[in-house]
Amino acid sequence: MVGFATELTPPFATLGYHGRMAVTDPAEIVIQADGLHKTYETGGVRTHALIDVSITVRKGEMVAIMGPSGCGKTTLLNALSGLDDIDSGTVRINGTELNRMGDDRKTEFRAKDMGFIFQTYNLLPVLTAAENVELPLIVSGTKPKIARERALEALDRVHLRDRAGSRPNQLSGGQRQRVTIARSIVNKPAIMWADEPTGALDSRTANEIMDVIQDLNKVAGQTVVMVTHDPKVAARCHRTIHMADGEIVKESSRDEMKAVVAAGGAAL
Ligand SMILES: Nc1ncnc2c1ncn2[C@@H]1O[C@H](COP(=O)(O)OP(=O)(O)OP(=O)(O)O)[C@@H](O)[C@H]1O
Ligand SMILES: [Mg+2]
Repeated sequence: MVGFATELTPPFATLGYHGRMAVTDPAEIVIQADGLHKTYETGGVRTHALIDVSITVRKGEMVAIMGPSGCGKTTLLNALSGLDDIDSGTVRINGTELNRMGDDRKTEFRAKDMGFIFQTYNLLPVLTAAENVELPLIVSGTKPKIARERALEALDRVHLRDRAGSRPNQLSGGQRQRVTIARSIVNKPAIMWADEPTGALDSRTANEIMDVIQDLNKVAGQTVVMVTHDPKVAARCHRTIHMADGEIVKESSRDEMKAVVAAGGAAL
């Protein structure tokens, strides 16, 4: 019996940080991935990007993924969101197995239920901020007038309504990143995936972006999974999953990440 706790496998092992539940209500689980493997093969070189990765995320959680460059963070994010195929393992979002969905259904699922914030802004240069933000709605058939209203609402959430008519090259890096956040929330998705959303920003702007994301998590209850290199960013998440060489090696609570920040990040 003594060894029981250490033998727990996800989801239960990863849920302990709340300290309030021994057994998890399946309805609270949004993302459940089990035994993910992904190998890349290029020019005769095999890279094990994911090795038996299992992860469980509950509704309304904000989870950071950290680890050295090349350890598999982006690969994991792409696998969890269905952007990329995996070699083996299962990913369930709200109980639905992604691997079993056809490409069309997966695309629709992503458009409806997921928002993506990547470091490279991916904004279309010829479109204004409002046009960029309303694009996912237009593509999924929303009437232009309603799409515009919702785009302006989303821009308001990131404090950029007054720049709705500006094109990306007329905006600063932080403002562009806020436009991508507005675009990722315009559909009110249940899950937001972010790959180093603050990576290219100075610390003040990074803080502002984190305020916006944290606010969406708190107020709108969105589940957020975010790759970051910055312990300060991770310390604003509920918990942090650490990866190395394609594997999850450890998990830290918010308090543990705060301690890392207080110690100058040296313990990472
Ligand atoms: N399309 C690909 N073809 C071949 N190898 C790839 C491909 N994509 C990623 N890899 C390799 O898989 C490993 C994991 O890559 P990944 O992009 O997930 O790392 P990461 O943790 O996101 O790194 P970074 O912090 O630099 O963004 C790396 O060794 C990378 O070179
Ligand atoms: Mg990456």
